[in-house]
Amino acid sequence: SAVHVLNGPNLNLLGRREPAIYGTASLDDIRATLEKRCAERGVSLVFRQSNHEGDLVDWIHEAGSAGAPVILNAGALTHTSIALYDAIKGAEAVVIEVHLSNVHARESFRSHSYISPAARGVIAGFGALSYILALDAVFENELRKS
Ligand code: DQA
Repeated sequence: SAVHVLNGPNLNLLGRREPAIYGTASLDDIRATLEKRCAERGVSLVFRQSNHEGDLVDWIHEAGSAGAPVILNAGALTHTSIALYDAIKGAEAVVIEVHLSNVHARESFRSHSYISPAARGVIAGFGALSYILALDAVFENELRKS
């Protein structure tokens, strides 16, 4: 089995980008932590980042077709993208929405998510730990497309 972790715009800057908000761990650090935890379970990890909305649409379709659960940090596309909402619905992908920051404690435009209504659950505000908590949710619930 496989877990797909998909990251949207600007998350390639993680570690250098507004560290007071997003922490000092890089996306590679997060990948390494998740890789280790997946290896312990014999689960393979697909870990990707793109600054382009269409890449994320394609990757959600791919995970949906494979019946693989998705941990999705869509970055700012969370707040703008009907295309990602439609991709999740269309591909019947099982998605856990994650955010490093507590989006509800920031600018009001971050409180609305187009992803949440299509997501199985949402985890926000725990920095890099948000991803680990999401992975635990995948493991505990054996989440996959039924
Ligand atoms: C984010 C929160 C978004 O509002 C922001 O645009 C990001 C990162 C987070 O992980 O906290 O790029 O998704």
